[in-house]
Amino acid sequence: MSTPKSGMRRNLTAYGDEEFSLFLRRAFIKAMGYTDDALERPIIGITNTYSGFNACHRTVPELIEAVKRGVMLAGGLPVEFPTITLHESFAHPTSMYLRNLMAIDTEEMIRAQPVDSVVLIGGCDKTVPALLMGAASANVPAILMVTGPMLTGNHHGERLGACTDCRRFWARYRAAEIDDREINEVNSKLCPTAGTCMVMGTASTMALCAEALGMMLPGGAAIPAVLAERMRNAEATGARAVALAKERLRPDRIMTPDALENALRVLLAVGGSTNAIVHLTAVAGRLGVGIDLDAFDRMGRETPVLVDLKPTGQHYMEDLYNAGGLATILRELKPLLRADAVTVTGKTLGEELAKAQPPREQTVVHTLKDPVFREGGIAVLRGNLAPDGAIIKQSAASEKLMQHTGRAVVFDSLEDLALRIDDDALDVRAEDILVLKNAGPKGAPGMPEAGYIPIPRKLAQAGVKDMVRMSDARMSGTAFGSIVLHISPESAVGGPLALVENGDRITLDVPRRRLELLVDEAALAARRARWHAPAASKDDARGYRKLFMHTVQQAHEGCDFDFLAAEVTMRVPRVV
Ligand code: FES
Repeated sequence: MSTPKSGMRRNLTAYGDEEFSLFLRRAFIKAMGYTDDALERPIIGITNTYSGFNACHRTVPELIEAVKRGVMLAGGLPVEFPTITLHESFAHPTSMYLRNLMAIDTEEMIRAQPVDSVVLIGGCDKTVPALLMGAASANVPAILMVTGPMLTGNHHGERLGACTDCRRFWARYRAAEIDDREINEVNSKLCPTAGTCMVMGTASTMALCAEALGMMLPGGAAIPAVLAERMRNAEATGARAVALAKERLRPDRIMTPDALENALRVLLAVGGSTNAIVHLTAVAGRLGVGIDLDAFDRMGRETPVLVDLKPTGQHYMEDLYNAGGLATILRELKPLLRADAVTVTGKTLGEELAKAQPPREQTVVHTLKDPVFREGGIAVLRGNLAPDGAIIKQSAASEKLMQHTGRAVVFDSLEDLALRIDDDALDVRAEDILVLKNAGPKGAPGMPEAGYIPIPRKLAQAGVKDMVRMSDARMSGTAFGSIVLHISPESAVGGPLALVENGDRITLDVPRRRLELLVDEAALAARRARWHAPAASKDDARGYRKLFMHTVQQAHEGCDFDFLAAEVTMRVPRVV
């Protein structure tokens, strides 16, 4: 058996003469000023996901310097390389539309270049999933680090966090409770430092899940972006990347079915973002592992929410950091974990937990006996409206709306929603159900975070705070409300959601996990016969959008491109 090639000999450009390829490569890399000695070291790639548009990644340049220091102290040669980056507010039409592009970029750059291991630096919502997806497929030793959460802001003595408080203050502004001056003042205080959203949004959720998955150094998820500790974490990550290269510990030995179950368990226990189930499904899909949504729901029935963080609770990520970070959560979950899963340190999750800082007095992470919410944060719904499933973040919903039958008020698209939601003539009452169609993976396209349908202005001004809302869209992890999401199949491909009409009755029954359109089958069959797909846009005919429209999977499959996912050979979680 031949020894795998390492360092400069890896992944040579093909000229039909390997020695010439190496000769040429060394000639060019020497123009970067490297010595022969440096070029003999293990080469550690570092993804540079900095962009002037991405404040969540503002600290990436200094983190890269710290990672490089760690790599060199451990005897490696660090080489940074760019990948695309994504920020939630700077990725039209929606960052989800571009997640797979970043995953492809990451995978192919890891494959193309001579890296013995790679440090993946992510943070903002889609970057961590994209990096993990790319690393899973490239299967070169890899270690993830996140930029870390922002510190909180302050408005008239009240702590503020992006972007739960963005929504709360915007809702107050829509309801005319605060004026232009105050909303502008709040706008300057919501994101007071570099880093990712500091509530339990998608970025925080994915960081904690990635640590539970074993792809990050223990303790790495919750360290705030601007603390010196974050830099030390970066240095340690760089040093560990050199060891990973020598040990050839690859992602497929870390992101195993056991590790994926740990990540799913943590997602439920932290009351995490609904987006994370789509992302973890996509990451698992790269490894040939399917996520069984019904088993995930059963896992949720035995996994209470333990973490008291906004948007459902009161604390922020810096409080979780001060409470001991993920280790405090894992310690509570220990009886439910697969503690033998190997992590990026080479040790198991259980071994690392035994080494973690001892428990301390804190109020952020509850015990299993005294949880924040008796079940996991996310419930999976089925019924004639969602044959392939839908989800609801039950821990962020109104208790009184969890069993509700109401009249549908339908919006056919995002444009229709924007046009009519605040129209005084809109026939809508607080007990109605707002239904949004054509906002799924192909419908919008990109499955935007439009599921948080605003309360119609006239109802908001009358004091209505929550209504049942449903769609095939996603929702920001920082949002809250009685909101059914990810209805699958989506309406744009003819899922039953496409057949809902104004005035139909719909039943949402979360305790029974049901989502039913109360229209008889004969009427539905007649509607189905009349249905036709939304007209294709001329933009669908070329480029990345053509690839996207032809190959993106449905929400329950992770919204990856069908040709990137591996064949599913097993399903998790294995919960009976
Ligand atoms: Fe980047 Fe919230 S916008 S984490």
